[in-house]
Amino acid sequence: MNDGEMKLRVTPIGNGTVIDHIPAGQALNVLKILGIDRTTQATISLLMNVSSRRSGRKDIVKVEDRELKEEEVNKISLIAPGATINIIRDRRVVDKYTVDMPDLIVGVLRCPNPSCISNTNEPINSRFIVKSKNPVILRCVYCEQAIAENIADYLI
Ligand SMILES: Nc1ncnc2c1ncn2[C@@H]1O[C@H](COP(=O)(O)OP(=O)(O)OP(=O)(O)O)[C@@H](O)[C@H]1O
Ligand SMILES: [Mg+2]
Ligand SMILES: [Zn+2]
Repeated sequence: MNDGEMKLRVTPIGNGTVIDHIPAGQALNVLKILGIDRTTQATISLLMNVSSRRSGRKDIVKVEDRELKEEEVNKISLIAPGATINIIRDRRVVDKYTVDMPDLIVGVLRCPNPSCISNTNEPINSRFIVKSKNPVILRCVYCEQAIAENIADYLI
C-alpha cells in the first residue's frame, strides 16, 4: 500500500479484489455490474471521491473473497476505462492489471435505437464496435446508433 493509504480508511482485506482508479461517480455502477445489492452476503468496502494523485478524485471498490470473471472486467472497462484490478491474497497485492475494453461488445449493452433489430423479438445479440476508447465511442453494428455517454444506462 502506498503512503497515500497510510491514513487507512478501511480495514485491509485478506483475500479478494480491489477495483481501483474508478472515475469518481462510477462506483455504484461497478457494484451494479458485479450484481452486488442488498442481498449480497460478501463484505464490500466502497470508497467514493477519495483523492488520487493520478486523477483528482476517484472511487474504489473492494470485494472480499471474490475474483472477477473476464466478462465482468469487460463490462467494467466500459464505464471505468483505466481502472486497475488488484488481486489480494494474504493481504498483499499478488496481481494487478488495467482493464482493457474489447474491440467488439456483444450482448452487454442495449441499443438506444428502439427500432434497432437487436431490440426486436429476433434472437439477435446486441453488437457494438468500439470506435474510440478515450473518449469512449461505440457504434451499433446493425443500425449505426452511437453510444458515447451514460454507458451504464444501457447495460443489459
Ligand atoms: N490488503 C488490502 N486490503 C484492501 N485494499 C488493499 C490491500 N492491499 C492493497 N490494497 C489497495 O489496492 C490498491 C492497489 O494497491 P497497491 O499497493 O498496488 O497501491 P499503489 O502502489 O497505489 O498501486 P497503483 O500504482 O495501482 O495506484 C490500493 O488502492 C490499495 O489501497
Ligand atoms: Mg495508488
Ligand atoms: Zn442498433
